[in-house]
Amino acid sequence: MRKLITGLALAGTLATGAVIAQTAGTDEDVAFAQAIWEEMVEMNLAGEGALMGLPYRGVPPHGEMLETFYVETEIMGESGLLVIKRNYGPEEVTEDEVLADPSGHLGSVTVMFQREEGYDPEHDDWFYAKYLPDGAMDTNPAGMALAGAVGRDLSGGCIACHITAGGEDYLFTTDAFPRRTPAME
Ligand code: HEC
Repeated sequence: MRKLITGLALAGTLATGAVIAQTAGTDEDVAFAQAIWEEMVEMNLAGEGALMGLPYRGVPPHGEMLETFYVETEIMGESGLLVIKRNYGPEEVTEDEVLADPSGHLGSVTVMFQREEGYDPEHDDWFYAKYLPDGAMDTNPAGMALAGAVGRDLSGGCIACHITAGGEDYLFTTDAFPRRTPAME
């Protein structure tokens, strides 16, 4: 709880357009996100013919059927954990339909990559990105590319929601990976 309050107080002092613009959606953020996409294609985890896992029923906002992959990798010289979530639709789509025609049902690909310490130390240094099925960056309603510390001011977006994940590790699906910074009381 204290963490949330600290976060909100911080958001109060930092929530200017300039600061938000620097933490997500910059050219540098987009370049980093594109490097992640290229690495995923390289690993056969994105693009045509990508490796499939068994899709499972999703929860909002990530889609009707999901797949999640965890892989240690290196992006632009930084080593870390990459978590990939593929989001399939439409409503009522089944596992079999997704497996039979993955690209026909893919709505978006969302990722989290844990960057080097100091990238976003208050939120365990996670970099977020959301792609359209062809690898182009998705944008928010304001036109900002969804790449970087999206939602760092906690007013909405990836971090504002992922901060509520169990284990305080920003990951909803698992607590298997240790937090980088000790949980606050
Ligand atoms: C309103 C809450 C919410 C928002 C906003 C949100 N997510 Fe998630 N996210 C979830 C939930 C819940 C899961 C677990 C889904 C499941 O059952 O697999 C999840 C899972 C994930 C995962 C798999 C890792 C994990 O947490 O287990 C990734 C990667 C991810 N989200 C990326 C993103 C990105 C990138 C954004 C912003 C563009 C985003 N999310 C915005 C709720 C949210």
